[in-house]
Amino acid sequence: MKKAQMVIETSLRAGGTDPIFRIAGEAANRTKELGPEAVINSTIGALMDDDGELVTFKSVYDTLKGLPNHLIADYSGLAGQPDFLEKITEACFKNCKPEGYIRAVATPGGTGAVRHSFCNYTELGDTILLTDWYWAAYATIADENHRKVTTFPLYNEAGGFNLEGWKKSILKLLEKQQRVLTVLNTPAHNPTGYTISLEEWQAIKTFVTETATAQPTSKIILLVDLAYIDFAGEGDEARQFMKMLTGMPHNVLTLYAFSCSKGYTMYGLRNGAILCVAPTAEIADEFANACTYSNRGNWSNGTRGAMETITKIFGNDELYNQAMAEQSFYKSILRRRAAAFVEEANKIGLKMVTYCDGFFISIPCDKPQEVSSRLMENNTFVVALGKGLRFAPCAVSEEKCRRSPQLILDAIKEVEGR
Ligand SMILES: Cc1ncc(COP(=O)(O)O)c(C=O)c1O
Repeated sequence: MKKAQMVIETSLRAGGTDPIFRIAGEAANRTKELGPEAVINSTIGALMDDDGELVTFKSVYDTLKGLPNHLIADYSGLAGQPDFLEKITEACFKNCKPEGYIRAVATPGGTGAVRHSFCNYTELGDTILLTDWYWAAYATIADENHRKVTTFPLYNEAGGFNLEGWKKSILKLLEKQQRVLTVLNTPAHNPTGYTISLEEWQAIKTFVTETATAQPTSKIILLVDLAYIDFAGEGDEARQFMKMLTGMPHNVLTLYAFSCSKGYTMYGLRNGAILCVAPTAEIADEFANACTYSNRGNWSNGTRGAMETITKIFGNDELYNQAMAEQSFYKSILRRRAAAFVEEANKIGLKMVTYCDGFFISIPCDKPQEVSSRLMENNTFVVALGKGLRFAPCAVSEEKCRRSPQLILDAIKEVEGR
């Protein structure tokens, strides 16, 4: 890399477009040139309808646009508007609110919540534990804030959560640092769609409890990233684990990163929260104070109109039911698309990692870049990751989801000769 001229050495960046945005740009150009029918664009991490238009919930946008101007324009409280904090807590836990001291602080999306947990719950230079398939922004947020990341393989041989690998990594980190923060992006993990099961959560809880008891001076922080929760499971199924994550030793803290981006189609409105389920009132207050201070020191207040929209939806039965009906309508479309892809992939022998729910399906391969480039020649755009390809049923019609596995398998065979 070049030498820094005016920026400090550690702020010297390679530049250029983010690889996902670059391939998305190419897909958009190809669509303009050849028309939407000829192109499979699975690069977008947002819910698109079958015509390739961004899905937006009418309940959300009618509410937002119906707000008086001053409720859109005004600043919000630094921690978020108090009524919003109450409603976002409902949105996060629904009927599965755990026992404990629960506090919420508004953040600009789940990204802000991830940032605050990394910065307030790990020391400078600490290493944060991620799964080996992970959302790339975790590493950016860690790096930007002078933290490191390490990974463990997400899957065991049976395609379930690799509990043993995760435990080993936690213990190893606790040998070299006082605290460990582990990010568990579940349900409907990005980029694989994996959801940690209740049995796996029970084993996680048991291990954390034993380890924290045996090492009383260490601290264990579970950051559960819920970005895709409202597209997982039926009813409250996907939230059942939350009731379990309580009653652990006082040196364990559970944090939740909640995002309104996907669940309420509010991507650009930057709305979400970080929540804690703390074992004591002091730990909960400390959390709220630290994260509110972090808000002030980073972006100050959140987006008032976005907060008011959620507050209004959760305060009015009719609006709430409308929003839930929209969520569930699109969840069933997403499920049909993903099921079409998985069924076809299984039929032709295209290997995937375990998919349960959500926006993305991952296909492991040795040369993802080359396979992605090969697919582009066929007007099929799939994101190349370090360990394979990320296909996005959230952005592709059912018919195209059914067609894609064969195209991907052919490209892998051509490039990798298998
Ligand atoms: C795994 C994961 N976590 C968190 C987020 C946060 O998104 P936002 O900041 O838009 O809420 C995303 C968005 O793509 C994500 O994929």
